[in-house]
Order: sequence, then structure tokens, then C-alpha cells
Amino acid sequence: MIVFKTIEEMQAYTKEQKQNGFKVGFVPTMGFLHEGHVSLMHRAKQECDIVVTSIFVNPTQFGPNEDFERYPRDFERDKEIAKNNGSDVLFYPSSSVIYPNEAGTKLMVTKRTNRLCGEKRPGHFDGVVTVLTKLFHIIQPDRAYFGQKDAQQVAIVDDLINSYFFPIQLVICPTIREEDGLAKSSRNVNLRDDERRIAPQLYEGLRGAKEKAQKGETVNEVLQWLYKILQRLEYGEVDYVEILSYPELQPVEGFDQKTIIALAYQFEGARLIDNIIMEGVR
Ligand code: PAF
Repeated sequence: MIVFKTIEEMQAYTKEQKQNGFKVGFVPTMGFLHEGHVSLMHRAKQECDIVVTSIFVNPTQFGPNEDFERYPRDFERDKEIAKNNGSDVLFYPSSSVIYPNEAGTKLMVTKRTNRLCGEKRPGHFDGVVTVLTKLFHIIQPDRAYFGQKDAQQVAIVDDLINSYFFPIQLVICPTIREEDGLAKSSRNVNLRDDERRIAPQLYEGLRGAKEKAQKGETVNEVLQWLYKILQRLEYGEVDYVEILSYPELQPVEGFDQKTIIALAYQFEGARLIDNIIMEGVR
């Protein structure tokens, strides 16, 4: 596996691969790789000739009081994982490579961002689309792989790709979970032991909510039930619980269309998000 740290090396490599007729798959990450990332690399390897994984903890998608400094990092460990799981290239730029100067043109997300994490983390998705636009231009992939755990991010990236005609196919892969149901996340290592013990109850709550929806309870009943379940957890607090149409992320009155039940929960060690997407129940 080759490691590139500069834009020039990365671009020259992709250009050559594409001239040789190879299809390039891209797995964008912020590192501290886990089985969720690995599943993206495996899928990319199945579908593409070359897999490029990027590791960049993107400062512009963190708010001033968020966990940018505490975000887990371990490049040597990540390198091994990427190499052993089908990545041909690791793109590992520094902040000064990605943000050499204050850009005179800013990207701002205006759709699908006024709910969920977009509402709770102002500017977060502006930072995400900014870095992805840069990475897409540098790597020029044919396909880009994202996990469904970050459902709002996926919905926004879908809009970015379509609105700005990136010649990239978005591939959405299922959320990978621990045996006890907790969604895999780089942030899980920052949970205290007692928080980690109760964290699977987030997904249990989502599953319970889905069951209630399928049994015919109203959106409000399901929301209130889930909120109560989460409020009773021993540690942490609910950041949001929402039920919306997906991928538009608009309020819904019933479960007769594709719907997301999503939550964010703030533990002391980490803020976790999770969701379930339901096809319409009639
Ligand atoms: O999902 C992530 O890890 C990040 O938001 C991404 C897509 C790598 C952009 O920084």
C-alpha cells in the first residue's frame, strides 16, 4: 500500500490509474479505523480496481466546543488496518495541505441541514462538504463509499454530488454494529466503561421504536416513547430524537413513506448518533 501526503502525488497517481482504464473507489475517513470503515474498503475492493482511503481529521467540521482535540488518532494502527483490508493507497494529508489559505469561496449546505446534527452542530455539514469537495477533486474517484450510520451526511453528500455534477457514484453501506448492537464509531473508545455498558440501549430504543411504528402507533407516540426510554438511561443526556422523511429530512405525519428514526446522545466521553431507516408501512 502506498501512502501519499501531497495533492500532486495523489492526483498524478489517480490520473495514471484512470488512463489505464482502472476504476477508483474512495473511502473517506477521519481515521481510528474500525470494522465500519473496513466494510467500506471491502465493498470498494469488490467493485473497483483501486481503493483509495483517506485519513484526515477535518477541523472545519468541528465546532469550537466539540471534540476535535480529543478525536482519537493512531496513524500506524490505521495504516495496518487499511493495508490488510484492500486499500491500495492511503491519502494522509496535513491540515496545511487541505487548507493552505483562507478560501475566498465558501460552501454552505442549505438543504437537509436544518434538523438532526445539522441543527445541533451549526456549520458541521458546511465543513463536511468543503473537505469532501476538496478530496473529490484530489482523488477523482469513480465511486465513493459512506456508512448509513451517518445518515444525514449521506443525504447531504447525495445532494452535493447531484447539485455539482460530480461524476461519482455514491455507495451507501449498512451500519456495522458491535455484538451488543452498539453502532461502531471511532468515538466509542472515548466512552467511560459505565457509559459503554449502557450504550447499546440506544439501538435497543431505536429497534423498539421501529416495532411500535410497525404496529401502527403514531409518529408522536413513537417519538415520546423513545424519548422517555432514553431519558431513563443512567448516564448522559438526549441531544435529539427525531422521526423524518428520508432522505429529504422533512417532518412526517405517518410512517407511509421511507422514514428515519434518528437520535443523538451525549455521554460525558462522547456524543453518539444512530438511526434506523424504515421503508413505508401502510
Ligand atoms: O464521516 C466522516 O468520517 C467524515 O465526516 C468525512 C466524510 C471523512 C469528512 O471529513
